[in-house]
Amino acid sequence: MILIISCSHHPDSRSRVLAHAAKEALLAAGEKVDFFDLRDVDLPLCDGHSTYEHPSVMEAQERVKKAKGILLAVPIYNYTVNAVTKNFIEHTGKVWKGKPVGLMAAAGGKGSYMALLPFFGSLMLDFHCYVLPQFVYATSDQMSENDITDSELQKRLDELVHDISWLARVVEEKGKKNLQG
Ligand SMILES: Cc1cc2nc3c(=O)[nH]c(=O)nc-3n(C[C@H](O)[C@H](O)[C@H](O)COP(=O)(O)O)c2cc1C
Repeated sequence: MILIISCSHHPDSRSRVLAHAAKEALLAAGEKVDFFDLRDVDLPLCDGHSTYEHPSVMEAQERVKKAKGILLAVPIYNYTVNAVTKNFIEHTGKVWKGKPVGLMAAAGGKGSYMALLPFFGSLMLDFHCYVLPQFVYATSDQMSENDITDSELQKRLDELVHDISWLARVVEEKGKKNLQG
């Protein structure tokens, strides 16, 4: 099962459009999907202490735990991921260990395309995630309100969807072999 996390609180979010497109592509490929829209969840701000016991946080951790791979759809704010994404990772990071991860970002302009790199690094260093090196980066001229309109963007998204399924299987097989010794 692939977990898609839509990390924007914007009512007309473009990264949510990416997340839905990825969901359709995964389902068409026969993959099981859990779609997690953070706009629908009442997550407290992480205090590094008592908020870990909050029911929404515990549910979020369970959903991450069950995932064989994760696709994150994030807005770029101030040259990095938005605070909603960061807060989610702060609350659930301990169950991301060794998970395959793919990233999709919506941005206002083309100039922030390297903004995700420090975030890549934190997932790899902190939690040893297998982060796919090719990510999706979308600007508003490549999308309508509800759809991807740019064929290159669609191609990149299809590749990401293919690669997260493939990597999730590879990592799962590796885990089984390690268990067998
Ligand atoms: C507070 C804020 C900061 C932003 N910072 C950037 C930025 O650094 N680089 C950029 O390309 N776009 C920036 N944007 C534009 C957003 O990335 C753009 O609106 C994108 O569509 C947000 O994703 P969403 O539609 O999924 O919410 C910013 C928007 C806001 C509201």
